[in-house]
Amino acid sequence: MTESQFTPRVFSGIKPSGNLHLGNYLGALKRFVDMQGPEFETIYCMVDLHAITVWQDPEKLREKTREVCAGFIAAGLDAEKSILFNQSQVAEHTQLAWIFNCVARMGWMQRMTQWKDKAGKNSQNASLGLFAYPSLMAADILIYHATHVPVGEDQKQHLELTRDIAAKFNHDYGVDFFPQTEPVIDGPAPRVMNLRDGTRKMSSSDASDMTRINMIDDSDTIAKKIRKAKTDPDALPSEVDGLEDRPEARNLVNIYAALSDQTAEQVLAEMGGKQFGEFKPMLADLAVSKLSPISSEMARLMGEEAEIDQILARGAEKARAIAAPILQQTYEIVGMVGAGKS
Ligand code: TRP
Repeated sequence: MTESQFTPRVFSGIKPSGNLHLGNYLGALKRFVDMQGPEFETIYCMVDLHAITVWQDPEKLREKTREVCAGFIAAGLDAEKSILFNQSQVAEHTQLAWIFNCVARMGWMQRMTQWKDKAGKNSQNASLGLFAYPSLMAADILIYHATHVPVGEDQKQHLELTRDIAAKFNHDYGVDFFPQTEPVIDGPAPRVMNLRDGTRKMSSSDASDMTRINMIDDSDTIAKKIRKAKTDPDALPSEVDGLEDRPEARNLVNIYAALSDQTAEQVLAEMGGKQFGEFKPMLADLAVSKLSPISSEMARLMGEEAEIDQILARGAEKARAIAAPILQQTYEIVGMVGAGKS
């Protein structure tokens, strides 16, 4: 199969659970927005059906779905250039996921480290949806024949599974129908770490709000969290090698670099020798100047529910225009009577 048979198309999804934080912005939203352009068609999705694999309060789920949508728009997503929508509004995802449930093997799913981590010892009590989640993820991607998927390192195994499902489907039915999707892992985006423990990822589920910068934090809160971020007593090194074994220092340098569109090397060439007492206020100023326009636009949009819902409805319509024919062809390949006729 040649890759050129498929339109270069980017797909990625964000789970609308928890607060949108700086890690989501630098690792996902900003990256996704930067991929808009002539090279790719870009399709982004709030994956609400993934969110409910663990319990979600219905009101909160609605609110978070709209919050992520507002975050995308505020971060610069152009609803004319990209397709932005909510997963449950395009039923073809779940329809293809069922087909994939019949292609994927139990053993493949049992090997998923995220399943093992999340279900833990309590796997008998985990939802069936949590177990089947990667099959729905493969459907999210392949219902658009997406060729490139920007994701974090933690999703790499799910992308490999997506390739396995595509290959087995093509092999079982003797077709060349689903592409081998490429993960796009090595963006310039760093992994943004917890402000109080540089060895852990920044997360919306951490009990302490001081460990993260939320996209809706105001300027004073952002500055305070950076001022109180954990550091060490040494000055900044002038080269990245000097950040080894200094996870908190590395994290703050990476955040500075990502927010100012520089590499960590460039930042250290300029900042090497500075103490944190000097560097932190500079980082706080930078973070406030980059993030406050986004958070105020988010706040404005979240007050305009109808505007958000309209963006989502329009996005779902555009997504369905691509997904529906692919589902019909899949049904036809599989042998469903009536497929291909409307
Ligand atoms: N599993 C992804 C995560 O937890 C979210 C996701 C769902 C996704 N479907 C996707 C990412 C399809 C990329 C493509 O982050």
